[in-house]
Amino acid sequence: MKILFLDQSGKPGGAELCLIDIAKPYKDSSLVGLFADGSFRNLLEQNHIPVQVLTNQVIQVRKESSLAQGLGSLAQILPLISKVVQKAREFDLIYANTQKALVVGALASFFSRRPLVYHLHDILSPEHFSQTNRRIAVTCANRFASLVIANSQASQAGFVAAGGRSDITEVVYNGFDPKNYQTHESDVSQIRQQLGLDGQFVVGHFSRLAPWKGQHILIEALAQCPVDVTAILVGDALFGEQEYVQHLHQQVTALGLENRVKFLGFRSDVPLLMAATDLVAHTSTAPEPFGRVIVEAMLCGKPIVAAKAGGAVELVEHGVNGFSVTPGKPDELAQVITTCLKEPQKIATIAHHAQTTASQRFDVTAINQQIAVLLNKLSKRTQNSELRTQEK
Ligand code: UDP
Ligand code: GLC
Repeated sequence: MKILFLDQSGKPGGAELCLIDIAKPYKDSSLVGLFADGSFRNLLEQNHIPVQVLTNQVIQVRKESSLAQGLGSLAQILPLISKVVQKAREFDLIYANTQKALVVGALASFFSRRPLVYHLHDILSPEHFSQTNRRIAVTCANRFASLVIANSQASQAGFVAAGGRSDITEVVYNGFDPKNYQTHESDVSQIRQQLGLDGQFVVGHFSRLAPWKGQHILIEALAQCPVDVTAILVGDALFGEQEYVQHLHQQVTALGLENRVKFLGFRSDVPLLMAATDLVAHTSTAPEPFGRVIVEAMLCGKPIVAAKAGGAVELVEHGVNGFSVTPGKPDELAQVITTCLKEPQKIATIAHHAQTTASQRFDVTAINQQIAVLLNKLSKRTQNSELRTQEK
């Protein structure tokens, strides 16, 4: 099947990393069209997935944009739309992986008469999106998409609550290759030593730096933990959250935690760094749509403590395959960290169980198979309706 994948970002966020796995099986006959250049393009190239940057123009609309701003940017992206319409005619299907890609993909689907699939990686709630953005997404999806793939039940529920059609949605979790999360003991000891983590109980946080990812909650919790607990913050501000980064550094200084918090920036060796931790913390203050880092921690055999909301609830069962805490509550988080520090045997058992179950539940081959079934069904439906139109 020839698929035109569309993604607005040049940066490797979770939705983009997920797209790499989805596009891979179709790489010989498909194309990923990006609306911005960046390191995501390099990652696609490294995976031998054809990629083209379709515009160099910055699309101004943001998560909180108003209708006027939205319409203004629509005029601005007309050349992009016309390019995508031309391209789409060479493919069987348009697969939009982000919201701006949905808007462009919807119009391209209409003009090129190609079916549209929308992979929804977000919870369309007021906490995450302005009313205008929610309306635009739901209208485009309801009117033009033949299939909406939600990355969790939470994202699916958010879509329906925002007015989205439930009859076109299917839930498919992100897939992972467990092999990518295996590490060598010697590399792990080496990185721990390099980072000065020997003798510490290390809590790792692996997320882009953004207020709703809640790194400040972990820092606050750390101040309430024993002094041999250290945190590594892995990730960078991908979407212009510089003020928050500054705030985090100030918070660390104000709490006197300079020796116990390490900012490592964006890294491409997440599995190794996860393996170098004793516990992985997920601290999103708004419901997490899915939370790749949660599954990744499990695959690395590391205990996970996650903020109990959104998709994270579907991934973590407290005391069984990880720990859950109320979002935005540093005291609760500090308590779990301290318990984990004191009961290594108990947490090792939980982490081991999580590793085994996550390897099966999120296996990329099985997940890709689910997507293939959905796309094949859709393609058959489209062919049949084309035949019917020709017969008339
Ligand atoms: N990640 C990474 N390097 C970093 C920080 C994060 O490669 O320095 C990866 C992380 O391993 C995960 C993804 O970025 O696969 C983040 O996805 P998630 O679903 O957790 O959150 P998102 O940022 O997409 O909301
Ligand atoms: C988005 C969501 C994240 C999810 C990822 C992959 O970036 O914020 O929760 O894990 O997409 O679906």
